[in-house]
This record gives sequence, C-alpha cells and structure tokens, in this order.
Amino acid sequence: MEHAPQTPTQNQQPLENIILVGFMGTGKSSLGRELHQNLGYQLIDTDHVIEKQTGKSIPDIFSQDGEATFRNLETEQLKQLIAKKTSKHIISTGGGIVCTPENRTILRQLGFVVWLKCSEEDIFERTSQNKNRPLLQCDDPMQAIKTLLEERSPYYEETAHLEINTTGLSLDEVSCGILESARYYFGSA
Ligand code: S3P
Repeated sequence: MEHAPQTPTQNQQPLENIILVGFMGTGKSSLGRELHQNLGYQLIDTDHVIEKQTGKSIPDIFSQDGEATFRNLETEQLKQLIAKKTSKHIISTGGGIVCTPENRTILRQLGFVVWLKCSEEDIFERTSQNKNRPLLQCDDPMQAIKTLLEERSPYYEETAHLEINTTGLSLDEVSCGILESARYYFGSA
C-alpha cells in the first residue's frame, strides 16, 4: 500500500466519502460491501444507480445508446452526488469512470479515492465468468484487458489518494488498510 501525502485543502469542508476506482474485476463491489459493513456508511454503486435510473442493463445501454451515453450518465451522477453534498458514503464506481477528465476532478472532490489493483491474470479470471461487461465481449479479452489497463492506469494514478494491490490480501485486510488511511486523510486518526 502506498500513502499519498495529500490531505483535504484547508478551509474547505471536505466530503467524507470513500470512493473505489479500478479496473473491471478488481473487487470494487465486494470491497464496497465489506467497507459498508465495517464502517456503517451507505453504499452507492454507480453502475447500479445508472441501471435503476434508466431501467436498462449496462450491456443494453452500450448496445442501444452507445458508450458515450453511458459515460455522460456517469458524469451526471457524480455531479448529483456533489450537488447533494453526499458525505459518509462508500462509492463503488465502474472501471471506466476515470476516462472522463471531468470525472477525475469530481471524484477527488467527493472524498478519499482508492485505486484497487490486481494482476491481468486475476482480472481475466474474474471477468471471464460473466457476459455483462460489453468492453470485454470480444475475440481476445486478455488483449483488451492489457490495452485498456495501459490506457487507464495513468488516470487511476492521477485520481487516487491511495493505491492497493489486493493480490494475496483478504477483504478484511484490504478494508482495514483503507479505513486506517481514510481516517488519516480525513484528519480523524
Ligand atoms: C466498465 C466497467 C463496468 C461498467 C461498464 C464499463 C469499464 O463496471 O461500468 O461495463 O469501462 O471499465 P465494473 O468495473 O464494475 O465491471
């Protein structure tokens, strides 16, 4: 685990959310549930909110409306969270949310951003189980993973306050590490 030395800017009322970013299959949803249980903060999963708002599955949004529409919905949702001054929530995000420059700024305004990482092989293993990720429904999903990871890694790095390689760690260990770092970040350690 690596600590970035930033803390919220003085004189600003920081929003105390813990936001999980990272590639598909890195365990954001499971960890979101674990943090929700350990900390008692409400859990928001941006993909689930979009599915609920539109009444469509993510594969249907991609195939019927296009990826750009999905990206706009992600941005709209982040803007709403800021507008509502959402605080003390766990926010689990879709793997491509950092690709939109505006989102990277908003995510950091929303709170403490954690980048979950694991190996390409683990990602392949976990994502090959289901067909609900349109960007990996192709002839060579391993190559798609490699290409997208290379493209997105700088964006995750730019956005996150903390990065964690989860390989070999239990959900409880990752959760404890995040909570300790988040308390330090929010100045309540
Ligand atoms: C996407 C990741 C998915 C979902 C959509 C697009 C991406 O979420 O938002 O399929 O671009 O990486 P998960 O990271 O939860 O799989």
